[in-house]
Amino acid sequence: MKEIALSPPPLVHNQFESVRELFSRNVVPSYARFDLVLSHGAGSYVYDVAGKRYLDLGSGIAVCCLGHAHPAITEALVEQSKKLIHVSNLYFTEPQGRLAAELVKRLGAGKCFFANSGAEANEGLFKVARKFGHAEGRFEILTAANSFHGRTLAGIAATGQDKVKKGFEPLTPGFRHVPFNDLAAMRAAISPATVAILIEGVQGEGGVTPATPEYLLGLRALCDEKKLLLFLDGVQCGHYRSGKFQSFQRILENVPGGEKFLPDGVSMAKSLGGGFPIGAFWVRAPYADLLGPGTHASTFGGTPLACAVALRVLEVVEHEKLDEQARKLGAGLRDELEGLAKKYPAVVKGARGLGFLLGFELADKIPGFASSSQPAAIQFTNRMHQAGVLVIPAGAQVIRLLPPLNLKPEEAREGIGKIEEIVQSLA
Ligand SMILES: Cc1ncc(COP(=O)(O)O)c(C=O)c1O
Repeated sequence: MKEIALSPPPLVHNQFESVRELFSRNVVPSYARFDLVLSHGAGSYVYDVAGKRYLDLGSGIAVCCLGHAHPAITEALVEQSKKLIHVSNLYFTEPQGRLAAELVKRLGAGKCFFANSGAEANEGLFKVARKFGHAEGRFEILTAANSFHGRTLAGIAATGQDKVKKGFEPLTPGFRHVPFNDLAAMRAAISPATVAILIEGVQGEGGVTPATPEYLLGLRALCDEKKLLLFLDGVQCGHYRSGKFQSFQRILENVPGGEKFLPDGVSMAKSLGGGFPIGAFWVRAPYADLLGPGTHASTFGGTPLACAVALRVLEVVEHEKLDEQARKLGAGLRDELEGLAKKYPAVVKGARGLGFLLGFELADKIPGFASSSQPAAIQFTNRMHQAGVLVIPAGAQVIRLLPPLNLKPEEAREGIGKIEEIVQSLA
């Protein structure tokens, strides 16, 4: 009888190719992914399927604030998942109430709503604004040119970058964009329909541009004068990345009048869960009950599991003073990047940012990139990957560094050393 045998598995199983194959067959190709298949991580490092190690200076785009596989996050996940993962928002749960109280403590009198992502957190703020202006027929939200607020339909309408809108018209009405850090332009843009202003404290996707103290204080005064709500998107720049809980607190420290500054709403996500998905918005006390019962909801928003993890992340960041770490090491990294700009002006134009939200701008015509049609930031990022470091491009010319808040000094030195190697090789 003829033996029926399955063909043996290939001797060399190429996991890289097989994972890519799974993606090309089954995953919607909406991301331009880099050629890396990552399998696991520990602290500030991740490893690809071939075992190559990378220093992660991107932390999943400002998400893994405690690095990878942090035991406190694992413990919180395990402990809470043994008790209660999810029950819906038909009921009260202690972790959600405690997390809201912690966020309120760090921002000011107000209340929180929990969602699952940054875009969703911003959507909630848009609904607060619509409710606030509804009786007077005011609905329009002014945002900044070059801003980024998420990929939902309202998110792309709010985002001040054409590339996210293209092909998805007609856009959700009620958003207009105004040059960033330009108070006069914002004043001039206000119409009778305007109800709110939304900006990032530090524009992240737009190329790492912090708001100036004058702009923040001026916007507050303008919003008070015109009865507008002032919203800050802290999704990327928040959660201690700047060296303070929120970037506006960092930008305004030691600025006369800064201690009194408070926006009317703040959106949060990314580092809030240290890698576990959770988003939230905080809304200042006078407006905290605008979204009454039945007006807004999310099945997964604020599960006991997500909130328990977020509470533990907060605890670790504060106990280990990681805000100070981000501030100190971030200042050192920024100095080094500025040094590179002086030493290699043909490659690096300049550096900017706060704490561990840093960016360096690449020069327009880098000699080493002459023959490629890819944007400079993508080519630079690929070279960093070859050198074993993950960095994040922002637009065509800027490289972002968003390391875990617990990055060690020797890891920062390793990162800057590798950046200099690449810069030098391109000069
Ligand atoms: C400032 C800002 N807002 C909102 C978002 C959207 O967050 P999410 O991707 O979690 O929806 C992002 C994401 O990069 C962001 O940087």
